[in-house]
Amino acid sequence: MNKHSRKFQSDKDVRKKVQSLRKLYIPRPEFDKLDARFGSILEQRRADEADGVVFKARSIMLVGPSGSGKTTAVRQLVHKYAHLMAADPEKDICEFIGLQVPSPATMKFVGAATLRALGYPYSGNKQGPAIWDQVKEQLKLRRTLFLGFDEAQDLARFQTDKERQSVVNTLKSMMENSVWPVGLLLSGMPDLKKIVNQDAQLARRVDPIQIGRLHSLRDVEHVIKIVQRYADRAQIDVVASVKNEAFAMRLMHAADYQFGLMAEIIVLSVSHALFTEGFEAKLSIRHFAEVYRERNGADDWMNIFVAEDYGRLNPRKLLDDNDSPEDGEDP
Ligand SMILES: Nc1ncnc2c1ncn2[C@@H]1O[C@H](COP(=O)(O)OP(=O)(O)OP(=O)(O)O)[C@@H](O)[C@H]1O
Ligand SMILES: [Mg+2]
Repeated sequence: MNKHSRKFQSDKDVRKKVQSLRKLYIPRPEFDKLDARFGSILEQRRADEADGVVFKARSIMLVGPSGSGKTTAVRQLVHKYAHLMAADPEKDICEFIGLQVPSPATMKFVGAATLRALGYPYSGNKQGPAIWDQVKEQLKLRRTLFLGFDEAQDLARFQTDKERQSVVNTLKSMMENSVWPVGLLLSGMPDLKKIVNQDAQLARRVDPIQIGRLHSLRDVEHVIKIVQRYADRAQIDVVASVKNEAFAMRLMHAADYQFGLMAEIIVLSVSHALFTEGFEAKLSIRHFAEVYRERNGADDWMNIFVAEDYGRLNPRKLLDDNDSPEDGEDP
């Protein structure tokens, strides 16, 4: 990777520390919203069940750009609710089922993937509507309350208007099922909004949560604290030049102002410091620059942690040596 060898890579304590860095979950305001919505929908459902009544289910849509932290937030949510939601493989009960939308996202493929996620052996020769009838049957048998579709923006990719409407109708029919309504947890990139907004009835039953971008000024203090938090967890020092506003702004730009990407860069950089220098390491901008070079294939002049005029560099472009002005995107 660089002139320093990763001589602590096989050190057991270092490896353990790196694992614990990767596991660290930083609380986010969007997560609190997601948690509150999910909690209240679940509570309502339990109350309805106790009263023996069936209402149409409500759903949640979690939207954000790539690397904002959607998949992680859903994983954290499932983890948090694990003790409140039944999952008994012996009795085939599973109140939450999550899956990634397959590609291509035809109704048949999505239905088959959902059946597989439900643990149902899918034979492969049925047509779309018959598969979805089976999905609904299985959802009831498994007592599934929530179905999570990650990468849900793909439900509309390369589809005709007619196919897109059939996706929307299928989603609605699961929520409106009079015997066993199921709430959806749709997570995906901003195009997902188009699918949901396409149908007024669907939009009315979906609570939207958007993961926002980091703000290059407002979030500076918070970012400095997060870097420190990771370094503390790694039990290494941080040099002064990494504890200031200028560095925090560079870091946010390198992460394209996406919280998840930023957390990932910090984890990689702190891990890099540990792997090369062990617990004696002092986290410096050099560690970030080296990680960035490896990830983006960037020479110094296009390395956001090295270049003086880093604002013109587009962090999303790999190995990009064309610094045309439209490549730089302001927050
Ligand atoms: N709250 C958090 N605390 C710590 N790390 C986080 C947090 N949120 C996200 N991350 C990290 O950010 C990275 C990207 O997150 P994630 O995969 O959830 O993004 P995403 O929005 O699902 O992106 P994509 O649209 O590309 O699937 C992961 O490595 C994850 O560990
Ligand atoms: Mg994801």
